[in-house]
Amino acid sequence: MSFTVAIDGPAAAGKGTISKAVAAHFGFAHLDTGLLYRAVGARVLAGADPVAAARALDPRDLESDALRGPDVAQAASRVATDPAVRDALTAFQRGFALRSEGAVLDGRDIGTVICPAAQVKLFVTASAACRAERRWKELQANGSDMTLDDVLADVQARDARDAGRATAPLAAAADAVLLDTSEMTVDQAVAEAIAIVAAARA
Ligand code: DC
Repeated sequence: MSFTVAIDGPAAAGKGTISKAVAAHFGFAHLDTGLLYRAVGARVLAGADPVAAARALDPRDLESDALRGPDVAQAASRVATDPAVRDALTAFQRGFALRSEGAVLDGRDIGTVICPAAQVKLFVTASAACRAERRWKELQANGSDMTLDDVLADVQARDARDAGRATAPLAAAADAVLLDTSEMTVDQAVAEAIAIVAAARA
């Protein structure tokens, strides 16, 4: 039987780092589902139709560094409000979870919609100010000249759109464990997540 870890939460809460570390620790496969929406968003910025782009998505499209930028993130958040886009991406995500003996999927609706039967559900969050500051430091290290205020506005706009949409909004599943990383170091957050998964596997 496959073992699924669903990790949801708002932008820049630390889901990616935690998911990668959990997957590496347990030898599980990892899918960053945000990349699917980013790949569709990037195609739409280049003039494609969102639903056609979602249906034609190739897993090899997910490897591009160009998907990391703030413009693509906003485009991803916009295409993610379309139920037909979400529908077109569902089978791939569910298939990924079942294909491997153990899988970590991170996103916004993994515990609620994509893998409601996941053995572990984590909802990783942090204050908007903390998340913006972390993202800003990352962007600065990559040579971006965005101000902290710009990054905060970006994070807040994405949070509002992701949590406010009608289909599969960003939300903690009723049975998710809440992990607020505002006051935690990366190592503490990772250790806590690994302990939660280990307890569920025992
Ligand atoms: O996780 P991320 O920041 O790369 O996600 C980019 C956008 O994609 C996010 O703002 C909303 C959307 N998304 C979604 O709607 N559902 C998911 N499971 C993952 C991402």
